[in-house]
Amino acid sequence: MGKLYGLIGHPVGHSMSPIMHNCEFRELGFSDHYQAFDLSPEQLEDGVEAMKMLDVQGFNVTIPHKVAIMPLLDEVEQEALEIGAVNTVYKSGGKFIGTNTDGRGYLMSLLSVIGESSLQEKSILVIGAGGAARAVAVSICRSGVASLTIANRTIEKAEELSSVCSKYAKTDAISLSEAETTLSSFDIVINTTSIGMSPHLNHTPLKLDHMKTGTVLSDLIYNPLETQWLKEGKQRGAVVDNGVSMFVEQGALAFEKWTDVAPNRQRMRRTVLKELG
Ligand code: ATR
Repeated sequence: MGKLYGLIGHPVGHSMSPIMHNCEFRELGFSDHYQAFDLSPEQLEDGVEAMKMLDVQGFNVTIPHKVAIMPLLDEVEQEALEIGAVNTVYKSGGKFIGTNTDGRGYLMSLLSVIGESSLQEKSILVIGAGGAARAVAVSICRSGVASLTIANRTIEKAEELSSVCSKYAKTDAISLSEAETTLSSFDIVINTTSIGMSPHLNHTPLKLDHMKTGTVLSDLIYNPLETQWLKEGKQRGAVVDNGVSMFVEQGALAFEKWTDVAPNRQRMRRTVLKELG
């Protein structure tokens, strides 16, 4: 019999992870299965125990459990501790170990979009300072960049994230309006906020008047595939990328961690795009 993997979250009904992983298992000839489990916050502790009893070999963790699961695991890796969230759990020596593939997944997808092996020379702006921003900023800084700037509506949250990352890179926290006026100084601008998602499809996280041509604009949103912000960026000569690449790569890194086999990223991407219609 194949091994069991899964996803815990609340809700999980709309997640594309089961289709993406099960398609890879099938195509690669594995008899393994990936199952979504809807667990309310009250059920989380018992749920993690149930995963052990069911001999689940690894699972993804999504909203609202990414932070709350940390004390329930046997170990949490350093990068996930710095991000302050776990999105992937794997089994090693009978223990459940928490890791985070969101930030590294984002980093890998960004490198492939810009066709380079490092961000060392780039001037990077992250918009937002919530959970998604933490994963992106921590992993980018750990990869070895010279500097990273974080812009957020609530400047105190940007300052806090900036201080977490400052052990790896020179970091700075600025307001959204300062980010708008200094936009031409950045090579890569990343939107980690939900601005641009339904029901605010016409809203954009940052005005692009001062953006230079050739800037990479990256939006973590993948539904819609092209946000108003990316549309405007494209019209102004930006290189744009949506959140599909990160979603695929965070899943691919989890798949590799669980199985020691590299999945077919292009096929995973096609599966996700088909699901998104
Ligand atoms: P996630 O886990 O998806 O990152 P989050 O932790 O709730 O979600 O963070 C949401 C981020 O989007 C925050 O940076 C938030 O800014 P604040 O820290 O000021 O709240 C930002 N955000 C959400 N709605 C926004 C809006 N209408 N204008 C500006 N920033 C917004």
